[in-house]
Amino acid sequence: MIRRIAINTGGGDAPGLNAVIRSVAVSALNRGWEVLGIRRGYEGLLEDDPEGIIKLDRARVSGIFHLGGTILGTTNRGDPFRYPVMVDGKKVPTDVSSRIVERFKELGIDALVALGGDGSMTLARRLMDRGLPRVVGVPKTIDNDLKGTSVTFGFATAVTTTTDALDKLHSTAQAHRRVIVVEVMGRHAGWIALASGIAGGADVVLLPEIPYDLDRVCEKVRERYLRRSDFAIVVVSEGAMQAGSEAIYKAGKDEFKEHAVLGGIGERLARQIEEQTGCEARSVVLGHLQRGGSPVSYDRLLAQRMGCAAVRYVGSTTSSGMIAQVGGEMVLLPFEQVVGGTRSVALDCDTMQTARDLGICFGDEPAGTFLNRVPAQGTAAAES
Ligand code: F6P
Repeated sequence: MIRRIAINTGGGDAPGLNAVIRSVAVSALNRGWEVLGIRRGYEGLLEDDPEGIIKLDRARVSGIFHLGGTILGTTNRGDPFRYPVMVDGKKVPTDVSSRIVERFKELGIDALVALGGDGSMTLARRLMDRGLPRVVGVPKTIDNDLKGTSVTFGFATAVTTTTDALDKLHSTAQAHRRVIVVEVMGRHAGWIALASGIAGGADVVLLPEIPYDLDRVCEKVRERYLRRSDFAIVVVSEGAMQAGSEAIYKAGKDEFKEHAVLGGIGERLARQIEEQTGCEARSVVLGHLQRGGSPVSYDRLLAQRMGCAAVRYVGSTTSSGMIAQVGGEMVLLPFEQVVGGTRSVALDCDTMQTARDLGICFGDEPAGTFLNRVPAQGTAAAES
């Protein structure tokens, strides 16, 4: 019998988090349960902060579903197994997982709805091994690369922002007869680059999944200028790699942070294209613009469907796991099935084939190579 649940948000934010928080709170309150919000992942349970745990009543979640960010705050430095604890004026990585389990017991929390990516799902599962009550995860990342679910909320908003930027960059690229290289998010998977590259009419799209050959990219740029379309738009995922090279980072990883900070591939590529083709090139990094702002209606709906599904599973089963959209339905998948991996862009999926048909260059094969290739019926990898 459920009386009280908690919600937290961990990792990088994504548009739609507040819509999930509201939908979880409202549907739980409608069942007569109490709802607590934990600030910044698990931090609110550990720090001496009177607002570390907040009661999510109707007033507290009113009017938030269309807002970006998260009213609970988030962090990618809050791993409870190496939590930064001050010892002699220095932050020391410390395992505070048993303290978290104790706090859940003290607060009488029967279940946790954890909103996060692969890192948050992995933590939830490890905390359950230490005695945390059941956890139902809700998948979140603008990168759309979580295993198990065909889509994550935040992705559609990020693609909309990126496409809008590409529309704007087209006119200035054309006016100056320039190549504009746009660096977008996508650490391990290139879904944002691929989707916005098609929607925003890019000539070249470079993904982490396909190490690119600079000569192919420059060939495509030259072909554009030869055809007197005297400009080109190149979209590159931050995690893309030139064949034979590593990804480019602008800051390393410290002992508390989930990951090192990618960045710089766009500017490097612009310089290389300019040198090799003689065409003037500029680069733009869209960065965290892609994570901000109001979720588009698709993400608001998806977020609320996932939030309500999480509460339904908390109320009707005793299982833990992550909510996933599979074949249009919301299902609960065991954590073992979803953690520790990436849902990469399948190179034969329909969206990739569409891009190839349109002549978009991925820096691998010469343009046109794909046009007369007959696809084997029914073998394309599912993408949604
Ligand atoms: O995981 C989503 C993501 O948007 C990645 O594409 C990107 O590398 C990362 O977040 C950046 O996160 P932060 O700047 O918060 O460290």
